[in-house]
Amino acid sequence: MKVLGIETSCDETGVAVYDTGLAGAAGLRAHAVYSQIALHAEYGGVVPELASRDHVRKLLPLIRQTLAESGLTTADLEGVAYTAGPGLVGALLVGAGVARSLAWALDVPAVAVHHMEGHLLAPLMEDDPPDAPFVALLVSGGHTQLVAVDAIGRYRLLGETLDDAAGEAFDKTAKMMGLPYPGGPQLAALAEKGTPGRFRFARPMTDRPGLDFSFSGLKTQVLLAWRDSDQSEQTRADIARGFEDAVVDTLAIKCERALDEAGSDVIVIAGGVGANKRLRAKLQEMAAKRGGRACFPRPSLCTDNGAMIAFAGALRLEAGQHETAEVKVTPRWDMATLPQVAVVGSP
Ligand code: KG4
Ligand code: ZN
Repeated sequence: MKVLGIETSCDETGVAVYDTGLAGAAGLRAHAVYSQIALHAEYGGVVPELASRDHVRKLLPLIRQTLAESGLTTADLEGVAYTAGPGLVGALLVGAGVARSLAWALDVPAVAVHHMEGHLLAPLMEDDPPDAPFVALLVSGGHTQLVAVDAIGRYRLLGETLDDAAGEAFDKTAKMMGLPYPGGPQLAALAEKGTPGRFRFARPMTDRPGLDFSFSGLKTQVLLAWRDSDQSEQTRADIARGFEDAVVDTLAIKCERALDEAGSDVIVIAGGVGANKRLRAKLQEMAAKRGGRACFPRPSLCTDNGAMIAFAGALRLEAGQHETAEVKVTPRWDMATLPQVAVVGSP
């Protein structure tokens, strides 16, 4: 099945074509992302109205470009998938409106995809994907969650952040130390030049049982360390390294705990922070030590993209799921309420 995927939940316009007839990573026939970073940079964060307007400008040209790159035309499409939530309502409505109209015009089904399910399933687009059950760590700018994946579409929340998401903590910490928006990747790059161990920050909530996270106190610790320092370039890099190590260690400790609790040795990592090199190495080491696996999407599919939406949508469309031709979005949406993806014809 050839499915067009559309992602417009925040500040990235993503479009892709996924073909379930081709095995593994080859199924992704084409994907393109247009990032609005430059548009929002001067405001230090995403301005929702500007985001919606830019999606309006970029989405149709990006669909044309991606279809051309995939070697297909609209007549070849057998389904359309779009992010219906969670996200910015205006931005979501742009993708939903275009996706529903296109599906209506082509007389093919359209399916509303949960953005975090898209992230969660992205690692399964790569070659040699793991089979459920497994545990997933979702680490993005808006979410930090540990999820038990009993089957595709059957998700149990094991733990989540009580305050800032991991990506948000990266972004806010970077901003505090004067790095430009969006700071997460820049802070990670700076940490590469930092001295390990010069600054040691807490590993929040690892000294008690449970799988929840809290990153806002860590941010305050960094602020105090930065304020009381000489604020030199080297110190900034050393603090960045201390911060990154604290976040990575904390995530790894909780992932290991979640695997123990779920009785699994397979951890799947998804979301923007999954692009972090040190996190990838640490979780790979942790999983290998238990004789298991840590599965990541390639870095470009960790951050927001249309490929994950095309893929998650294709799985649901193939199972016969789609909705009526209503343009409806769900800016707040609990992933645990999603229906399981049953294979068509099975009981
Ligand atoms: O999944 P994503 O693209 O968007 C959301 O759905 O939130 O995640 C973006 C988040 C941002 O907070 C960004 O700073 C963070 O992912 N991020 C990183 C890295 N690359 C992106 N954080 C740490 N290290 C990175 N290399
Ligand atoms: Zn995302």
